[in-house]
Amino acid sequence: MADEVGPTGGIRRAWRWLWRPSGRWSVGALLIVGVLGGILAWGGFHTAMDATNTLEFCANTCHEMRDNVYVEYQSTVHYTNRTGVRAVCSDCHVPREWSHKVLRKVKATGELWGHIIGEIDTKEKFEKHRMTLAQNEWRQMKATDSRECRNCHAFTAMEKAKQRPRAQQRHAEAQQKGMTCIDCHKGIAHLLPQDFDEDFDYTAGVKVTPYAAVGQPGPPAASGGGPIPAKP
Ligand code: HEC
Ligand code: HEC
Ligand code: HEC
Repeated sequence: MADEVGPTGGIRRAWRWLWRPSGRWSVGALLIVGVLGGILAWGGFHTAMDATNTLEFCANTCHEMRDNVYVEYQSTVHYTNRTGVRAVCSDCHVPREWSHKVLRKVKATGELWGHIIGEIDTKEKFEKHRMTLAQNEWRQMKATDSRECRNCHAFTAMEKAKQRPRAQQRHAEAQQKGMTCIDCHKGIAHLLPQDFDEDFDYTAGVKVTPYAAVGQPGPPAASGGGPIPAKP
């Protein structure tokens, strides 16, 4: 056939060949090849998921993270502490359960676009967007009852008697009222946005009664401590 020569003709022929029933290979052989191929693809997929979950990848692949949140995080207790247990970026930001994890990864490919157009490529632009970025995280953590925090922490695993009095008091209140970690512990790994308002409930979107006014020991939002200064 005349239309089967040239580049498009070649593609059409290859396409037809691809879907022709095999006369040479047994169904068993095809099945084995298919299963092996599937396992390899699955393994490759997992390798890619793991590779994009490392501290090295999250902190250093783009300068947007390296120059801002990464530097800040390095002076917090989640980076270095007495016992040497480290929480890396993905521990707090990427779900462990695989369907949620895949969704987060798909969303992250959208963030590549922000990188390409340079949405937050200077310190100034990053700070300008920080409130929006932070609010997205707070909303998500609130919606999941701080699921990623709870992979490591649990109220029931806390030896409350050993905690600072203020922590004991607030954690008792939190459990009683069904509050979640992120309700109070904002800014634990990075600096808070410059225009952060302690008397505003960012997840509910309402102004709350200042804690001082109701005789509480202090506003919970800032009490998580903010990044802890590096010890000399
Ligand atoms: C990978 C495990 C892990 C994850 C995930 C994690 N943490 Fe931690 N967290 C730790 C470790 C380890 C410490 C330090 C314990 C120590 O040695 O004092 C810590 C310490 C803390 C402290 C005490 C800070 C201080 O001043 O001593 C707070 C508050 C805290 N975490 C809140 C959170 C919140 C909120 C989240 C979720 C956004 C979270 N953590 C996620 C492991 C984790
Ligand atoms: C109602 C507010 C509130 C909630 C909700 C809350 N915390 Fe706290 N937490 C505090 C306060 C206040 C402190 C004391 C901070 C300080 O003294 O600087 C504290 C301290 C801590 C500490 C350090 C304890 C110590 O004595 O060193 C850890 C760890 C911690 N919180 C983890 C969590 C985790 C994990 C969750 C969620 C399961 C959570 N908190 C929920 C208010 C809260
Ligand atoms: C212990 C948990 C924890 C770890 C570890 C952590 N983050 Fe975060 N991150 C948060 C929380 C909570 C927020 C929401 C804003 C806030 O409260 O500071 C946040 C916010 C952010 C934001 C939005 C901008 C902002 O500052 O609010 C970015 C971007 C980010 N994190 C990237 C990273 C990267 C990259 C790493 C690793 C270098 C990392 N995070 C490690 C908990 C964590």
